[in-house]
Amino acid sequence: MDKFLINGPCKIRGEVSISGSKNAALPILASTILFDDPVIIKNLPRVKDIDTMLNLLKSLGSKISLSMDKKTAKIHNQKKMKTFCPYSIVRTFRGSIIVLGALIGKHQKCTISLPGGCLIGARPVNLHLSALKKLNMNFDIKKGYIYAKVEKKLKGANIEFSKISVGATQNLIIAACLASGKTILRNCAIEPEIIDLTNFLTSAGANIKWLGKRTCQIIGVNSLKQTKYSIMSDRIEAGTFSVAASVNEGKLRIKNFDPNIIKSELGFLKKIGAKIKILKDGVTVNGPKRIKNINNIQTKEYPNSLATDLQAQFMVLLCLANGRSSITENIFENRFMHVAELKRLGAKIVVKGNKAIIYGPSKLNGAELMSSDLRASVALVLAAIVAKGKSVINRIYHLDRGYEKIETKLKKIGVKIRRIKK
Ligand code: EPZ
Repeated sequence: MDKFLINGPCKIRGEVSISGSKNAALPILASTILFDDPVIIKNLPRVKDIDTMLNLLKSLGSKISLSMDKKTAKIHNQKKMKTFCPYSIVRTFRGSIIVLGALIGKHQKCTISLPGGCLIGARPVNLHLSALKKLNMNFDIKKGYIYAKVEKKLKGANIEFSKISVGATQNLIIAACLASGKTILRNCAIEPEIIDLTNFLTSAGANIKWLGKRTCQIIGVNSLKQTKYSIMSDRIEAGTFSVAASVNEGKLRIKNFDPNIIKSELGFLKKIGAKIKILKDGVTVNGPKRIKNINNIQTKEYPNSLATDLQAQFMVLLCLANGRSSITENIFENRFMHVAELKRLGAKIVVKGNKAIIYGPSKLNGAELMSSDLRASVALVLAAIVAKGKSVINRIYHLDRGYEKIETKLKKIGVKIRRIKK
């Protein structure tokens, strides 16, 4: 397994360009199952999870051709597609559950391995299944697989999610596109990646309208037509680089994204003392000399407060802040795995239930570290950038799942980072 070697502390200077969003690309790719005509998807990030989704689509029968830089995919489905999604693929990325809505919507059946939990939490799919059931999908769970089918066609329904879920909202929007009649989804997640999905589907002739803040109406159409679509930029990558610029008095221009998608996080960076300049296609971030502490940051569903996918990165910043800070994780029950590793660098953090209390400022010193999930891993990279001396970060395959060319981008802005291949 590859490792990163980082020699800190590093001063970040320069410019970085944000890649396409992994979490927008995954449901959009899954939804291409709904099409008979070819679809062209542009601005795909070159990360492992996207390769896995493309492999899953190929295994179902989609013909996929990639451009030279592999950022554009032309996807053309066969009339008859397979509907079996094996454990060997599903276990490697939970996002694959999103093909359930597409397969059941287009081919009336799907057998898919039940995604297990992962390190950040149990991650059940009950909301996906109970909502799809309301569209007339029947299912059985046997030997770790969901066996789903529908007589004839899915049928529109009124559904109110009992809890806001990104994946369940996506699965239902996709499934309802070709269903008969009208579907109303209430209490939807409205993350920018979901709006990107509905923009994509609408560009192909789906009849989708947002009626209220969290209410989405989908009127089923007979088919979707050929379309060409460019995936939005990755807001979590943009947020990660904004934090990177703030940890050690960095000066960074972060381009190729709409700053509105991380408005709330930029607000927190201003609070800790960073100077943020909003540009048309990005931001410049100047990190402060003295980082101010913040108490009571809560992770919440978009657009509120801090995105859970940026919680670990912000925790690194607060370790360096003057005074006591706290972060409460409200989305996933076990998303503090980075804490133990940050402590090994010298951070002072106490976890009480879903709240982490961070006592700063800590002087961080390089150490050998272990990656756990994607965002915890990138937080370790940020900590190693500011820590004194050499850090080795093990198991960086987590980073390769979701950050495009991370070491190339970091090297260009002054980080002394090297990949050690195993
Ligand atoms: C998506 O996961 C993202 N993944 C996650 O990003 C992100 O952290 C998460 O949304 C929250 O923003 C992708 O887009 C591929 P949820 P998802 O359904 O859809 C509970 C990353 O690092 N829940 O909104 O799985 C669930 O356990 C990843 O890029 C149920 O109880 O998240 C959690 O507590 C990690 N039942 C909460 O809802 C369900 O059926 C929110 O989960 C579904 C979810």
